[in-house]
Formats: sequence, C-alpha cells, structure tokens
Amino acid sequence: PTNVGILAMDIYFPPTCVIQEALEVHDGASKGKYTIGLGQDCMAFCTEVEDVISMSMTVVTSLLEKYKIDPKQIGRMEVGSETVIDKSKSIKTFLMQVFEESGNTDIEGVDSTNACYGGTAALFNCVNWVESSSWDGRYGLVVCTDSAVYADGPARPTGGAAAIAMLVGPDAPIAFESKFRGSHMSHAYDFYKPNLASEYPAVDGKLSQTCYLMALDSCYRLFCEKFEKLEGRPFSMSDSDYFVFHSPYNKLVQKSFGRLYFNDFMRNPSLVDEVARETLAPYTSLSSDESYQNRDLEKASQQAAKNVYDVKVQPGTLIPKQVGNMYTASLYAAFASLLHNKQSSLVGKRVVMFSYGSGLTATMFSFCFQEGQHPFNLSNIVAVMNVSDKLKQRLEFPPEKFVETLKIMEHRYGAKDFVTSKDCSYLPPGTFYLTNVDSMYRRFYAKK
Ligand code: ACO
Repeated sequence: PTNVGILAMDIYFPPTCVIQEALEVHDGASKGKYTIGLGQDCMAFCTEVEDVISMSMTVVTSLLEKYKIDPKQIGRMEVGSETVIDKSKSIKTFLMQVFEESGNTDIEGVDSTNACYGGTAALFNCVNWVESSSWDGRYGLVVCTDSAVYADGPARPTGGAAAIAMLVGPDAPIAFESKFRGSHMSHAYDFYKPNLASEYPAVDGKLSQTCYLMALDSCYRLFCEKFEKLEGRPFSMSDSDYFVFHSPYNKLVQKSFGRLYFNDFMRNPSLVDEVARETLAPYTSLSSDESYQNRDLEKASQQAAKNVYDVKVQPGTLIPKQVGNMYTASLYAAFASLLHNKQSSLVGKRVVMFSYGSGLTATMFSFCFQEGQHPFNLSNIVAVMNVSDKLKQRLEFPPEKFVETLKIMEHRYGAKDFVTSKDCSYLPPGTFYLTNVDSMYRRFYAKK
C-alpha cells in the first residue's frame, strides 16, 4: 500500500467550558496571565456525565456514521490515553460495544499510554500495521481521548478535554512521510501520575517546559539529519509549509517555534532574515544548557520568528486555545485546526508535527497532503468535523461552577455505587454519557 495515512477524522470536546479571563479573576491571578501569559482563551472540561470512555464512544460512532463506514471494515483499533479509569481493562474494550453490535469482534489493538504521547504511539501502530504483511485490507482506527485536570494551583488553567478519531489506510489525503522521523526518549520526572487514587498529576511545570524544548531540539536535529540523508540537501523551516505542535498551552507553542527558528539560525545564519540575524547574534555563544534558561533568548527568538509563526503555526492553534490541553488529543486537535483553517489549499503541502509526552517520549514526523477521494478528502473532513459550530454551541460555566464540578469529580474518581445527574440537556444529540457505576465498579453509558 502507498500513501498510508489519515483518511478521515472527527473530533469531540465537551460543550461545557470556562472562560480563561473569568478564571483569572476567580483565581486572583493578574489580568492577562492565562490569556496572554499562557495564551489560552477557554477550557473545556467533563462534567460528571462525561469521561474518556463516553467521549471516545461519541467520536467513534460519529466518525463511522458520518463517513458511512461499516463497522466490519475496521480491522485494528488503537487507543491513546493517559486518563486511567481501569488499571487492567483497556478503553479499547469499552469501544468494542460499538463493533460487537454489528458482529465484528475481529479487531486487533489495545491502549497505549505515556502522557500526551499515547495518541502518536497508537497512530504509528495503525500505520505500521497497514504497511505490514499482517494487514488484511481493512481500516485502522486511532482514538485519542483524555480529560486533563489539575489540582488547584498554577497548572489548573492548562486543563482541557477531548476525543479524536482517525481512520487509517492507504491512498490517504493526509499521507505519512514515514522516512522523515526523529524521536527523543529518556527518563524524566517532569509530569507523572504516581498517586493512583487521584486523577491529578504530579507536575514540575518549569522542568516540563525545559524537557519539552530539549526534546524538540533533539527531534528537530534528527529529523533534519534524516531529511538531508534522503533528499541530499539540508532541511530548514522553509521546507515545510506548516508546523503543528503538541499544545499544553499556546505560549509553549510560541516558544517552541522560536526555538526551531533559533536552531535554523545556529546551523546556518543565512537561513533567517537579516533583522533576525541581528536579534539572535548575542546568543550564539550560549551553551546548550544555558540556552534553555535564558529568558532574553526566549523572547528574542519568539520575536524573530513572529512573522513566520503567523503563517506556518498560527493556523494550527485554534482548538487548543479554545479547548485547552487535551493530552493525547492535543496534537491532533491542533492539526484539526490547521485543516479547518486551510482546507483544500493544503493539497501538495507539507506539515511537520511534534508530539511530546512527559516522562518522556517525543517524535517529530511529517505529513504530505494529497487530493484524496470522497468521502476521504480534505474538504469533507473539514465539513464532518464542523469545528466552528462545535465551538459556538458551548455552555460557559462560571468559574465557581467549574471548581464545584472538579470537586465532585475528585470524589467520583475510582468510586463505585453512584448514579449521575439526570441533567444532560447541554449535550448535543448523539453524545454518549455515563449513567451509573454499580457496586462492582461496572460503568454504564447511554446515548443521547
Ligand atoms: N500578563 C501577561 N503575561 C503574564 C502575566 C500577566 N498578567 N502574568 C504572568 N505572565 C506570563 C509569565 O511571564 C509567563 O510567560 P513567559 O514564560 O513567556 O515569561 C507565563 O505568563 C506563565 O507564568 P509563570 O509565572 O511563568 O508560570 P506559572 O507558575 O503560572 O505556571 C505552567 C505555568 C508552568 C505552564 C503551569 O501552568 C503548569 O505547570 N502547567 C502544566 C504543565 C505543562 O503543561 N507543561 C507542558 C509540557 S508537559 C504537558 O503537556 C502536560
């Protein structure tokens, strides 16, 4: 099979959200800290009727329906998530309910977990399967689903929630350039979830930023090396039309792109314009370690990269700014934003993707866009995802109600024997929701 990649996509995020500006006031943060400082506009969250299982059921059934895919046509399903509901039973097995109904239980794959990277691992597994000798001609289905919630404190405004489904197969409009790939994996305690009784992570915010940027540098270096080896000429940012990043909060994306810009400048100053060369010149003698701590360099690179950022990065920032960090779904929600903003104009273009999961695992890879054939073409994917309407039809909760919801969820996490609120009037039709958890911790869902 050739041009293996993403044939179809759909996204779901809870309609319930809190405005970052209101949260700043509520938290007593200085004005602009969350909106400008972190670069976030709004944050989605699950109420007590939604979780990573219901969101993934919603998005999978929606994808199958909207692209008219017979559930029997799925031969592998891989789920990426870092939200643990059960330490043994995979989310994938919950999703099997959708396929059992149509008599298909012949579906390989389970869950992949490592912080925000699980979705990328799941995607690679599906692509590798389609390219392998065990491929049986059916589609792969990748599901990224997460609810990101943090304890009260500076990380709380960087939460979010969403599920994304991606259909994988040959002759895809979003084709992998599998040869160009750079990974960086190592051991770090930047963000982890050692307390199994709590949904909240232990996080060293500053360290997680540095780890992210170091992994980015390392992946970019390897990506460039592989490109040069195969194409016989050096890679620079001008070789990709767009860059999409895992987006815990938008400021980190701005910093990341500044960092790539600085990398190009350090490898070959003539790759950047003259003004940027002057701006960045004072920092050439910094050691690599110093460069991560130097705030002037950070500001200077962001400044130097600003114009290119607006063209190559900004189109892939809408959903993460509006929904927040969606962990495994975050990179693909950023990618969905690019599709939403650029649609069919992407045909023939390249996008470089950067996936990061704390702990840590990271990969930089690229896609090339093709025409595709209905229903698997870019304009149909954009129509199906219908991002504008989904963003418009949301229910803003005041911060007090958001905090109250998180309190309820703290008690519900790992609990048994409860029935959820009967009110799910705010959920759109077709949304799955949690009805109750019985005395054996078994979870039951219904479809609205
Ligand atoms: N107006 C404008 N900007 C402001 C204001 C204001 N009133 N107040 C602060 N800021 C800026 C700061 O200058 C800083 O920006 P800079 O880094 O460009 O200088 C930014 O807002 C954040 O403020 P800080 O005080 O530096 O950081 P804070 O203690 O609020 O924590 C952090 C931010 C570390 C991101 C925290 O939210 C966190 O831990 N989040 C979770 C971890 C995370 O997402 N890590 C990313 C990779 S790992 C992953 O994906 C989970």
